[in-house]
Amino acid sequence: MAAPTSPNDPATDPSIQDLIAARPWLKHDAMAGLLLDDVPLNRIADAVGTPTWVYSAATMRARYRALTGAMADAGLDIHVHYAVKANDSRAVLALFGAEGAGADVVSGGELLKARLAGIPAARIIYSGVGKSEQELHLALSEGIGQINVESAEELAMLSALASATGRTARVALRVNPDVDAGTNDKIATGRATDKFGIPYADAAALYARAAAMPGIEPVGLATHIGSQILGLAPYRDAFARIADLVHALRGQGLRVSSVDCGGGLGIPYRNEPAPSPAGLAAAMKGAFHNLDVRLAMEPGRWLVGPAGVLLASVVLVKQTPFEPFIVLDAAMNDLVRPAMYEAWHGIVPVSATDAVAPAGPASVVGPVCESGDTFARSRSLPRVAPNARVAILDAGAYGAVMSSTYNARPLAAEVWVDDGRWSVIRDRQPIEALWEQERLPT
Ligand code: LLP
Repeated sequence: MAAPTSPNDPATDPSIQDLIAARPWLKHDAMAGLLLDDVPLNRIADAVGTPTWVYSAATMRARYRALTGAMADAGLDIHVHYAVKANDSRAVLALFGAEGAGADVVSGGELLKARLAGIPAARIIYSGVGKSEQELHLALSEGIGQINVESAEELAMLSALASATGRTARVALRVNPDVDAGTNDKIATGRATDKFGIPYADAAALYARAAAMPGIEPVGLATHIGSQILGLAPYRDAFARIADLVHALRGQGLRVSSVDCGGGLGIPYRNEPAPSPAGLAAAMKGAFHNLDVRLAMEPGRWLVGPAGVLLASVVLVKQTPFEPFIVLDAAMNDLVRPAMYEAWHGIVPVSATDAVAPAGPASVVGPVCESGDTFARSRSLPRVAPNARVAILDAGAYGAVMSSTYNARPLAAEVWVDDGRWSVIRDRQPIEALWEQERLPT
């Protein structure tokens, strides 16, 4: 019997052609190489250099409409609050704002960026376990739509702040449903041992207390069980527990008018089966359809992940007795997901000739001085030459936002492709910016 394969076994990797075929916004042109929405990535790299993030606006828009369309088809009137943390570029925020989305923010910085991009305060939800007094004050003075409170301690802090300034905070209690979403340990958030949310058993009593607290108007419940979730069962379990809680609270005579279902819908990085928005809509409908609550959700990755690539160049190919190392000019400081979560990202040569050349196993790494700076192991790739370009796929979510300047590497440029045209939406960080704010001790 064959040995069991790990989920990321290179033997089960999709081919370059399969990766492209599953992403209609990408295609190879024999002469121009890889195109994103018909714009040659080579043209962008020639002008802007590499590494560079490139985003397809049309893909983001289409995904937003597919998601809201699936909810509408299921008869759900859902309010989408884009999870800013996935990609906080102002162009992205403005795109979703124009589509009618609100924002889910987790810091004062994200709140201000969302406002700056034109998202109305009333459509902003503020989540997170550690909002500072200053941040809560900002949320109150902006008059945002909802604050998702994650602890009794935070509720007391918010009540004091709101009543001192004569304001009322619309609050949802984020409940930890104790459900394992079956995702990477570092991005599971709904288990009792995770730092997120109010323990399920404490939620009803805290909600009743909240209703009596000055400056607090409890409006409902929120939950979020994790990210890159590839099955619907954990959602069904979590939503069922939240629905039970709504009944229990109403049984005590408390008003519950909204449920925020969180984010987390996974995407098929490896072309693996992934849940559809219609599946998620059915799970929401199953739990909440007869509850007469305003439904909200906070998707991030599903909307923007597939819409972005990280464009990189080959620095050199290092031969070893094992397999060659393709060393890129992009590194873990740019895209940290493989190093941090052992995440799998498709890697596709930009040249159409390279894409069909005979392939063999190679490691794809960056220049940073850590072995963890590895994008792929034993990946079947053609023998690319120095200066050849590759696109790392599905890098639109948790890519640029998680970059650092580790190894004194400036932040990469970001480019927007829309309607056959491209433009720089963030300049490559100038090298001087790395030390501009430093001072020698006096
Ligand atoms: N709402 C809350 C309260 C969240 O904490 C998150 C993500 C979202 C919504 C959006 O989840 P999404 O739809 O994007 O899955 N850096 C990790 C992912 C961290 C997700 C954290 N919370 C990664 O690269 O996989």
